[in-house]
Amino acid sequence: MTLPKTARELLHLKGQRPQVWITAYDFTQAELAQSAAVDAILVGDSLGMTMLGYSTTLPVTVDDMVYHSRVVRRAASDTLLIVDMPFLSYRDPATALVNAGRIMQEAAADAVKLEGGARIIPVVEHLVAEGIPVIGHLGLTPQSVHRMGGYRVQARTADAVHTLVEDARQLAAAGISALVLEGIPDRVAALVTHTVTVPTIGIGAGSATDGQVLVFHDCVGLSARTPKFVTPFAHGREALLQGIRSYREAVIGGTFPDAQHSYHITDEEWDHFVRQHPS
Ligand code: KIV
Repeated sequence: MTLPKTARELLHLKGQRPQVWITAYDFTQAELAQSAAVDAILVGDSLGMTMLGYSTTLPVTVDDMVYHSRVVRRAASDTLLIVDMPFLSYRDPATALVNAGRIMQEAAADAVKLEGGARIIPVVEHLVAEGIPVIGHLGLTPQSVHRMGGYRVQARTADAVHTLVEDARQLAAAGISALVLEGIPDRVAALVTHTVTVPTIGIGAGSATDGQVLVFHDCVGLSARTPKFVTPFAHGREALLQGIRSYREAVIGGTFPDAQHSYHITDEEWDHFVRQHPS
């Protein structure tokens, strides 16, 4: 299976086969994601929660994104790399260009992702005109947690569906390369998917999108709490906890390390040393 090398190639996959994206934030996660041959790695600003211990994505800075993206890029040089622009880093076209430019230049990203609809069209157009591929993100947009009044499923009223579809149309016309749809009803995601020519990538948006994206920790079962829309595909947390507990028991019980897992010096050299250092 040929994997996309550029954001433009994401467009060609629409209607061909489902796309598989996953987030990654560090070297190990990125190496695993690339080894599993995903279509794209997203350095999401969800790293604020998964890696930095914040309760929202709002405190995440451009420096944080550049730092984590550089690490991810070192581990996954052959995988399409999409990087989130954090809260307030794209509030006007000029600010967005400076910050997106840093992410593209310092982290060798292939595209940036921005949350929002009609409001951010001038920003999207400016970045695309400057040659920076942009991914859109509609529905449950975590940077708007306060406006949404919490992390709630979006587009559940007729008016909200209308606005979302119109936002999607405008983003597609502005030149985005793909559109993440988060936390919306499956029928709404299907409608958007049929309406726009760009691929839609769902997370908590049902099965009718052109692809799926999952947060790394949710995908492999590392999260303490799993969202309703996630099936963990591994039992990472149990496996790791079990490993650390077994290590602890082995050290306390004196079974680790054993001779097989120790380095040795020859009897001859040891005797030589003892003769030279009589106690
Ligand atoms: O920040 C993130 O990880 C995201 C995904 C949930 C799509 O935006």
